[in-house]
Amino acid sequence: MKIAVLFGGNSSERDVSIASGIQVTKALKEAGHNVLAVDTFRGVLSDVEVQALLSRGIAPEPPSSHDLEVVKAKTGGIVQPSYFTDADVVFLALHGGTGEDGTVQAVFTAAGVLYTGSDHVGSAAAMDKDLAKRLFLAAEVPTPDWLMAPVDSESAAARLGFPLVVKPNKQGSTVGLTIVHRLEEIQSAIEEAYRHDDEVMLERFVPGREFTVGILGDRALAVGEIIPKCSDIFDYQSKYQPGGADEIFPADISPELTARFQELALGAHRALKLRDYSRIDFRLDPKAGIWCLEANTLPGMTAQSLLPKAAAAVGIPFPELCTEICRLALARRQR
Ligand SMILES: Nc1ncnc2c1ncn2[C@@H]1O[C@H](COP(=O)(O)OP(=O)(O)O)[C@@H](O)[C@H]1O
Ligand SMILES: [Mg+2]
Repeated sequence: MKIAVLFGGNSSERDVSIASGIQVTKALKEAGHNVLAVDTFRGVLSDVEVQALLSRGIAPEPPSSHDLEVVKAKTGGIVQPSYFTDADVVFLALHGGTGEDGTVQAVFTAAGVLYTGSDHVGSAAAMDKDLAKRLFLAAEVPTPDWLMAPVDSESAAARLGFPLVVKPNKQGSTVGLTIVHRLEEIQSAIEEAYRHDDEVMLERFVPGREFTVGILGDRALAVGEIIPKCSDIFDYQSKYQPGGADEIFPADISPELTARFQELALGAHRALKLRDYSRIDFRLDPKAGIWCLEANTLPGMTAQSLLPKAAAAVGIPFPELCTEICRLALARRQR
């Protein structure tokens, strides 16, 4: 397979994306593929081209399908760099921002470039935690109660209790998130979250343990338990510093609970119409059971990341996982 791995981007998860991109590149090479590592992508019209188009006007008839095919063949649609149009598939190793929220996916779809993972609709739905939670509820996947800012502190406290969680609606990597214990702290936590996003969510805190479930194709992989070491929650440091958290695959839980997590993870994946792979995050309240926090359409993809660990625990080594993700994308072209 000829594969272009795209990574970097300009979100706060840029460093994480570079780590993913480099490791995916290495793994796909190990698996025998022809791989190109691409840090950024640009498709730019020159001034001369813009001028020519301005003075051209519109023909009385729409272009024929033959003409459109010629355009596509010549330019590769709107993504011109040959490293994308020459590849059988683009492996998206971007995290956060326009790389994960459906924007890049929509551009590639419009350009007719095949890429791994969810399309623009699924990506956008998963990135927008508020929207995702509404879809989880519609699919009977329990998710903790929430409100969107602006909201006055008293109403938020009355509805959600303490502690409560304040987070940007469309960020990742626990950036801008605060666990709030007192009424007086709510508004400053909201302001902090607004520094990272134009929408802010307040959510009921779920005490207990944290779990994550990887999905590959239409199958749930091993359930993993996350025990953060740097903090009570799975924050940026716990996520990315070596030894920041114990990540146990498969989790030490009953077969029944495992099956329930996997069923809910598949339910969440399908509720958002996700494709190829994803990772669904949960909390387990000792009294009130399982709660789904969010779905990640482009989860971390270093060999030590959670989804690769979930795959390894069911006998899928990292290079095979990366190859399978490409195969799932390629199968779409053949349909
Ligand atoms: N409602 C909640 N109850 C308890 N912990 C939470 C809650 N929301 C978030 N957390 C903690 O913060 C981490 C990051 O939150 P999450 O909603 O998954 O956002 P991100 O997209 O930043 O990963 C979670 O892994 C968990 O440890
Ligand atoms: Mg998360």
